[in-house]
Amino acid sequence: MKICKNIRSLKIDLNKIQKNKCLSLIPTMGYLHLGHLSLIKKAKKRKEFTVVSIFINPKQFGPEEDLDKYPVNIKHDIEKLTKLKVDLLFIPKKKEIFDYKISSYRYKPLKIENILCGINRPNYFPGVADIIIRLFSIINPDKSYFGEKDFQQYFFVKTLLKKLGFKSKVISSKTIREKSGLAMSSRNQYLSIKEIKIANKLYKFLKLNKKEINDKKNISKSLAKYKNELLNAGFTKIDYLEVRTDDLRKANINSNNKRLFAAVFINETRLIDNIRV
Ligand code: PAF
Repeated sequence: MKICKNIRSLKIDLNKIQKNKCLSLIPTMGYLHLGHLSLIKKAKKRKEFTVVSIFINPKQFGPEEDLDKYPVNIKHDIEKLTKLKVDLLFIPKKKEIFDYKISSYRYKPLKIENILCGINRPNYFPGVADIIIRLFSIINPDKSYFGEKDFQQYFFVKTLLKKLGFKSKVISSKTIREKSGLAMSSRNQYLSIKEIKIANKLYKFLKLNKKEINDKKNISKSLAKYKNELLNAGFTKIDYLEVRTDDLRKANINSNNKRLFAAVFINETRLIDNIRV
């Protein structure tokens, strides 16, 4: 696996790729888990030239959020990526990334930034937009892969890139879970053993909530009931528990392609998840 730590060496390597080979990007913030690896495996299986980027993007964190303690383990990440035969790992430096000129792209906030995670994390989507525009301008991938755990992010990136005229096809991949059902996330490692026991209940409650919605045909009552259930089970705060369509519009019981979205806290740790309804 080639490791590029600056844009110049990255571009030299990207120029050597055969013209008919599909170039795929999996952007990450490192501390890789099986969720990330499943995205990479998908690209490798399709015989694409697979680029993984590792960059902890400070702009998508709020002032009270976990930027300073965000987990890092580059050595393990490199071992995992080497095993999967990733073609190229891009680990840019902060200064070079943010000095890179992207002025030709006019990013205007999208409507979907005002719902779900955008409400309590106002820096998040503008920050993600900034880094995505930089990475995609530098690498110009044919395809990119995002996990469905962060469904709003996947849909945001897809919409943003299309609006700005990037050619990249944005592909989503299903959430990878622990045996307990807990969606894999780099942030799970913040949880104590006691907190993990609570976190493990989230997926179970989402499935029960889904069943109740489908049985009783009443979304708002079922959501109210399960917000209470979550708080009684030890979750300390609920940012949202909502049903929306696959394109993040408000859903009613008759809407097609519904998803149940949750963002909850256990003390300081914020967890998100979603399932099809
Ligand atoms: O999902 C993430 O890890 C990040 O938000 C991303 C897409 C790499 C942008 O920094």
